[in-house]
Amino acid sequence: MGEVGRIAAAEERASKAVRIPVEAYVSEDYARAERDRLWRKVWLQAGRVEDIPEIGNFLTYDILEDSVLIVRTGPDTIKAYWNVCSHRGRRLVDTPAGQRNARGRKMNFVCGFHAWTFDLEGQCTFIQAQHEWGGALREEDTRLGPVRCDTWGGFIWVNLDPDCEPLRDYLEPAATMLDPFELQNMRPRWRFWTVFDCNWKVALEAFNETYHVPGTHPEFMAFGDFTGWGRPQGKHSHIGYDTGEGPKENASKLRLGAGDPRTTTAEMQKYTWEGVNTNTTQTLVDVAQTLPDVLPEGTPAGEVLKYWLDTARAIDAERGVVWPEVDPAHVAASGTSWQIFPNQQIGHAVNNMLCYQARPYGFDPGKCYFEVAVYELYPDGQAPETEWTFAEPENFPHVLQQDFSNMASVQQGMKNLGYRGNIPNPKAEGAVISLHRNLARYMGTGRPEPIARRKVP
Ligand code: FES
Ligand SMILES: [Fe+2]
Repeated sequence: MGEVGRIAAAEERASKAVRIPVEAYVSEDYARAERDRLWRKVWLQAGRVEDIPEIGNFLTYDILEDSVLIVRTGPDTIKAYWNVCSHRGRRLVDTPAGQRNARGRKMNFVCGFHAWTFDLEGQCTFIQAQHEWGGALREEDTRLGPVRCDTWGGFIWVNLDPDCEPLRDYLEPAATMLDPFELQNMRPRWRFWTVFDCNWKVALEAFNETYHVPGTHPEFMAFGDFTGWGRPQGKHSHIGYDTGEGPKENASKLRLGAGDPRTTTAEMQKYTWEGVNTNTTQTLVDVAQTLPDVLPEGTPAGEVLKYWLDTARAIDAERGVVWPEVDPAHVAASGTSWQIFPNQQIGHAVNNMLCYQARPYGFDPGKCYFEVAVYELYPDGQAPETEWTFAEPENFPHVLQQDFSNMASVQQGMKNLGYRGNIPNPKAEGAVISLHRNLARYMGTGRPEPIARRKVP
């Protein structure tokens, strides 16, 4: 069976009704245990390849107490080291105050304490008064410790476990499903990070289902149908929309509105562009505005979708933005976003993506870093220069603020003595269930438990 067939078959794999214990969200002991059992075991998305284009370009990535220094050492080589000086343990590259990470270009890293110096390969090339060790220092005592590092999808990934499985194996089947979308060619339109008063899982789980749309974003209900599904895919999961009688590609991100798709798609695109600035591009928005004028009333939904996407594709091609060709069946099967275990979401499309990532903020289970990055395809050399920029939650686009408004309240609610644990919708919130099933495997605790069926009298 081909990959699409395997993924499509997963549709039948509906999650069972379960209750998720609350400890994963609120327990300090659990948050501390995550360091060793989770964060030091999994592949972590640490940055983008295009952020370190030249030899000597570097960036850092911090996860709890661990820090990694990632360096471009050759045109096709990126290496990672523990970001700590081998002499007396000073962090080698500091994160400038208020920034998400350090980023720059150096051919040597000079420690700020006693000036030991390291080259791009991690070799220690200068030690003050080395003779005073009497020849005892070996290369393996002084060099920077290596960290497993690889790339996929234009992302740089690190794993703190030297015995971890290869990145590609870890990412499957997500990698195979997402490869045709050529995520490595996309560049950020904007990227902001913030801090929430909630557990990192609360933050991510606000985005891995569409079940919250009527309650959190009621204005979207005027445009479309947002009922959807979440399916486990090994360690990972993906979500998508129900399609009913409509085109199967409506399961994915570039989809039509309900009712008369000419007008609702135009309205939904405009609202999305202005209200959240994610999940679409200027070209798609512009072409969508023409649909009610160009296409006659009653045009079948499949034709509206084809006209909209084909026209936008052609307009973009003229300005040097070439969308990859992806089989519509594959687009439909892939859904609208993938949750990469444990802490990343990639919302993919042929010409744009929306990525979320959450990381713990120290060992406080009620706090996390949260990152939002929006990417699209640009003509060669015309991508805007962007940096990770801190923004207070109230300065994000207003639709995201609607999501953000639930974060601290969920965290507070779950701390109530009387709260019995999460009971996610088995179909629409299957990605939440999948995350906790997999977390439990790593953590050894917190397994979702079936909700006992009541006997029908
Ligand atoms: S701690 Fe780095 S040179 Fe001493
Ligand atoms: Fe939302």
